[in-house]
Amino acid sequence: MDRKKPTDILEEEHKIIQKVVAAMAVGVEVLETGKDVKADTVRNIVEFMRTFGDKCHHGKEEVYLFPLLGHRGVPMHGCPLAVLIHEHEMGRVLVKELASAGEAYGKKATSAKAALIQSLKGLIKLYPDHIWKENYLLFPMTNKVLSEEDQKDLYEKFEEVERSIGEDTHERFEKMAEKLSLEMQPI
Ligand SMILES: [Fe+2]
Ligand SMILES: [Fe+2]
Repeated sequence: MDRKKPTDILEEEHKIIQKVVAAMAVGVEVLETGKDVKADTVRNIVEFMRTFGDKCHHGKEEVYLFPLLGHRGVPMHGCPLAVLIHEHEMGRVLVKELASAGEAYGKKATSAKAALIQSLKGLIKLYPDHIWKENYLLFPMTNKVLSEEDQKDLYEKFEEVERSIGEDTHERFEKMAEKLSLEMQPI
């Protein structure tokens, strides 16, 4: 097959997400030393996680890859799919908490900084493990289970996801991910 495998696309997206997780870690370090970060940078992280992380990336996994694996005999209620779906849900909750903490932090509300640190730490703990499970367990298994035809269909579905979020959205967030660690410097 000349074209990339769907799992290659997802692995590339993981690298982009990891850059944002690294920016979160920089943010925690800055906040824990008593300094401040820009509330706009926190807002950008929230926007990245909602659009790139959830709509684009989790969309490809949850709407297309996981159900297809289910149809090919991988149990939906056991390990690893149910665990991964649960982690996506946890991620959504944490991003929601990050959004509220970030808004409160922007308004200089009392205890907003502690809530901000807590939600960032939750995401920093969740994502690397989640990505590890997908890269080293789910994707090798996916490439054993799916036929060439399945891979081709899935690739086309992934392109549909890209079109549905907007043609240049992926690139915009990829560029944002590059800059977030630098933006997360003390102010
Ligand atoms: Fe995932
Ligand atoms: Fe993933």
